Amino acid sequence: MIEFRQHLPSYYQQSDSSLVGVVDNSPQSSFKSPEDEFISRAKNIASQLHVDPMAGWYRRLLEPADYNTNSTLDQIDAITQSIHRHSRYLVCIGIGGSYLGHRAIIEAAMPDSPTEILYAGTSLSAVEANRILSKIQDGDFSVLVISKSGKTLETDIAFRLFRKVLMEKYGNSAHQRIFVITDADHGPLRQIATQEKYTALDMPTDVGGRYSVFTAVGLLPMAVAGLDVKAIFAAAADALAYQDQAVMYAASRQALSQQGIHTEILATFLPELYYFTEWWKQLFGESEGKAGSGIFPASVLYSRDLHSLGQYLQDGSRQIVETFLRFEVDPALDIIIPASADTAFSTQNPLKSHDILHGRSINELNQIAEAATVSAHQEGGIPVLEIRSSRPTPQTLSELMVFFMMACAISAQLSGVNPYDQPGVESYKQHIKDLLN
Ligand code: PA5
Repeated sequence: MIEFRQHLPSYYQQSDSSLVGVVDNSPQSSFKSPEDEFISRAKNIASQLHVDPMAGWYRRLLEPADYNTNSTLDQIDAITQSIHRHSRYLVCIGIGGSYLGHRAIIEAAMPDSPTEILYAGTSLSAVEANRILSKIQDGDFSVLVISKSGKTLETDIAFRLFRKVLMEKYGNSAHQRIFVITDADHGPLRQIATQEKYTALDMPTDVGGRYSVFTAVGLLPMAVAGLDVKAIFAAAADALAYQDQAVMYAASRQALSQQGIHTEILATFLPELYYFTEWWKQLFGESEGKAGSGIFPASVLYSRDLHSLGQYLQDGSRQIVETFLRFEVDPALDIIIPASADTAFSTQNPLKSHDILHGRSINELNQIAEAATVSAHQEGGIPVLEIRSSRPTPQTLSELMVFFMMACAISAQLSGVNPYDQPGVESYKQHIKDLLN
């Protein structure tokens, strides 16, 4: 279940009753409504999402039977079984879209698996590389390298490093412990995989990194981590049904952007969604931040950040929109708060003579804090968007990812940019090459 709502302060005019939410229509406002400006264009763009040459992620979800019946999911199953049999660790090398999607779901779900995934190649930090090197000394390991281009600096360095260790440890059989996911036809990594006879899966040519979580790129690591990837893929395909909600979210963002909102903050009260927010930032940042435009994507983890950025959000500049990810709670994972006679909430509340926390649960308090923050920030004049979902599970998070990918592709096109390229990231790479030469 996904439900999009918006709550706009009184200085935003809003005339569309189909956008669920608390809206204060101000007759004096000169702002145009998202409906007038953006919704019909967003609907047109949505109806053509399958057409773009790089929209392979969408076409695969539209035709899930094709993907299921071809061998990809079976290959993933076979590789996973082999890794589980032979490896206590899987060093998973990749950066950006080659790791954030699967890490987002794995870290949120924390599934059981005989193999622990260690993420490498996400920085040029020797400290981080040394930590992983020292961890793999106490167990068997395999390496999975994921890179569409096969040319990414961080990935290249990490692959050199861990392949060398693997060869020193396992000699001639090392190549059976190397798995590759790269472009089906192009790039140096594809050449190496073919030459060295590594087991290789395809990263479809018509899918870009940040849209690739429901291809082998995301599905193989999730399977190794112990998740049911057939169910995840099915949930992702079903989530195309939320396209209308994605249209509303995209239209709302662009209407707000036109009215001077330059930053969107994704807020969650579930710290286990840290990597989900990282994935979201990459998706929107790389897809929209182009040609001098785009809403800057940021994130907060509450309630932690209520004690840091909360002040800014309540009282600071009003050029932001805050999007709350709100979930139903999982009653199975709750904890009851014990009684206490001498803490602030039991002794110093002037209106209550009793302990107002005792007997309540941590989940209940988290939900109360969430509702309180939504209303306080609305009162403070922040446009608030809400995306509501059922309990966070690998399936519901997958649904949300599809919702966001659709919204992002629509929103980027509404603002006149190509959601699938990233010309800006080439610039720093060229500077690195110049310095290396
Ligand atoms: O979304 C993207 O395309 C990028 O973030 C890439 O995933 C990232 O730069 C890694 O590229 P590659 O998979 O070619 O190593």
